[in-house]
Amino acid sequence: MKQLSDYNFLSPEVLKCPYEFYKLARENSPVMELPSELVGSKLFLVTSYDLVKEILLNVEVFSSHFSHLMGGKEAQSPEVEEIAARGWPPVNTLLTADPPEHKRFRSLVNQAFTPSRVNKMEDHIRLTVDELIDSFIDQGECEFINSFAVPLSIKVIAKQLGVPAQDLEKFKKWSDASVAGLGRTLSKEQEIESALDVLALQNYLNEKIEQCKKQPGDDIITDLVQAKVEGVRSLNTAELISIIQQLLVAGNETITNALAGGMLLLIQHPEQMALVQEAPDRIENLVEEVLRLETPTAAMWRIVKKDTELAGVNIPEGSVLLLRFDSASRDQKIFPDGEKFEVCRSNAANHLAFSHGAHFCVGAALARKEMLIAYEQLLKRLKNIRLAADKNDLNHFQNIILRGLKHLYIEFEKADPLLK
Ligand code: HEM
Repeated sequence: MKQLSDYNFLSPEVLKCPYEFYKLARENSPVMELPSELVGSKLFLVTSYDLVKEILLNVEVFSSHFSHLMGGKEAQSPEVEEIAARGWPPVNTLLTADPPEHKRFRSLVNQAFTPSRVNKMEDHIRLTVDELIDSFIDQGECEFINSFAVPLSIKVIAKQLGVPAQDLEKFKKWSDASVAGLGRTLSKEQEIESALDVLALQNYLNEKIEQCKKQPGDDIITDLVQAKVEGVRSLNTAELISIIQQLLVAGNETITNALAGGMLLLIQHPEQMALVQEAPDRIENLVEEVLRLETPTAAMWRIVKKDTELAGVNIPEGSVLLLRFDSASRDQKIFPDGEKFEVCRSNAANHLAFSHGAHFCVGAALARKEMLIAYEQLLKRLKNIRLAADKNDLNHFQNIILRGLKHLYIEFEKADPLLK
């Protein structure tokens, strides 16, 4: 029987499949100190549902001022700093802001991102989903991530932001660059390349912002350009870029990873796939169960603002916490048989995949809608979905914050078109 001390959380093997380690950690040491090299200060891993939730709700003590951890290990190197200096300075608007600034910006984004805007997207999402399925259905096989999950999420968010189709490819590349440093595993050369891509994205967004000022459209960038902070002043360019960049990035890789992770779960559990195929009204709950088990934003940072104590562990001011949403969402105290994939699980939606409290994901309604429509159409139009023989290694990207499969090759047959 393995002990907690037998595991090195930061090793590639544990990062690939951390769930046994999490279970032991939740039972024996739900607040656990990790080597500090990763972040340059004391670092604690938090794995249980109750503690993660408690920390998320206490913004007075647990701050989101972690932008220094977002840029990658080399963000302070002269080369990367020089590239960043040519762009707009980072501003803490949403993810990395604390009250009262956070509330100011968040209320503006909530206005631009209303449920009615998301509902209006439904037809476009359905059309895009069907067009993507049309593009591979006759071949009886596809690489699901690049043929479906990536183009779906990028097309939907780009449309929301008013980005034209011809810019989609570079938009995706820049978006990937914005999150590349998050996992803190890039080489210096890779970080320089990412910094150049982020600079290109900022320049592109600046042009788009100027365009929306002259010619307002029916899109989120126009809404934000016209918004007034506390009813008084407009957002400046650095603030606008910060917000738009987050909407783009957060809505891109996460949905892609959730869709692919969910497809793999369905394939690995044919009896669960059959349950949703025979009663499609279960798909709403399937989406929650996929988010619970796959948790694409697997973790997030918090900075401790004053000496405190958590589960009997003393945490000094300035420490960094790594909150594991992926572990919390499998906590057996909340989710009986938490490691099991059960599409009919009654409390699946209590997961923490979208976080909780002040920073609860702005795009949760959109993400849920996209996943719902995607699985509805895929499960209606394809049957006998299975892994393609000999093509899959099922490896994930090595990133401690974002979880996602690299590739997913599938085979299937066409379902009876009369059912379409
Ligand atoms: C399955 C898809 C998604 C997942 C799992 C996800 C997850 C998360 C999580 C865990 C947080 C909070 C982090 C924290 O507490 O520090 C968050 C925040 C955020 N998400 Fe999402 N997200 C998804 C999709 C989206 C989409 C589609 C958008 C936008 C179009 C979006 C925009 C944001 C923004 C702007 C924030 C920052 C909110 C704030 O700090 O106030 N996300 N997301």
